[in-house]
Amino acid sequence: MSAEAMTLFSPELAARLDALVERYPARRSALIPMLLYAQDEVGYLSDAVIDEVARRIGITPLDVRNVATYYSMLRFQPAGKFNVQVCTNISCMLRGGYKIFDRFQERLGIGHKGVTADGLFSLEEVECIGACCWAPAIQVNYDFHDELTEEQVDAILAQYRSQNAGGR
Ligand code: FES
Repeated sequence: MSAEAMTLFSPELAARLDALVERYPARRSALIPMLLYAQDEVGYLSDAVIDEVARRIGITPLDVRNVATYYSMLRFQPAGKFNVQVCTNISCMLRGGYKIFDRFQERLGIGHKGVTADGLFSLEEVECIGACCWAPAIQVNYDFHDELTEEQVDAILAQYRSQNAGGR
């Protein structure tokens, strides 16, 4: 069996990663985009993901970990189905970001990087997500919610619970 046939990624992702490593003069420059695409598909950077990305680039798994641990958007544990990222950077902090983060912690019963027991939600305190003009802001998977107050937290959680119940 060829190395490609042994991939744990989908054929589409494997092809995308092949193209990425060819695009850069130094193969390891493709590391972070490769990890982001792999995380999108697998959900987190498991040992197997790290091993395969390392093999594709021609570096060691330890090299991958040493770089990846600097990037807060990369995860080494599975996230919840809905990953709630609350910005507490300066603009959001000044407009109540910590109150919102505290409310999510209280309602979900988890802290930073925690995952609810049912696997539905995970929570992260993050740096600026580029929505400073509409602070305070959060991101749930790829959805933005902005100009928030802590009173809106329950409605946001209810929205995703009902989305889950509807199978979306
Ligand atoms: S500081 Fe929160 S989005 Fe920029």
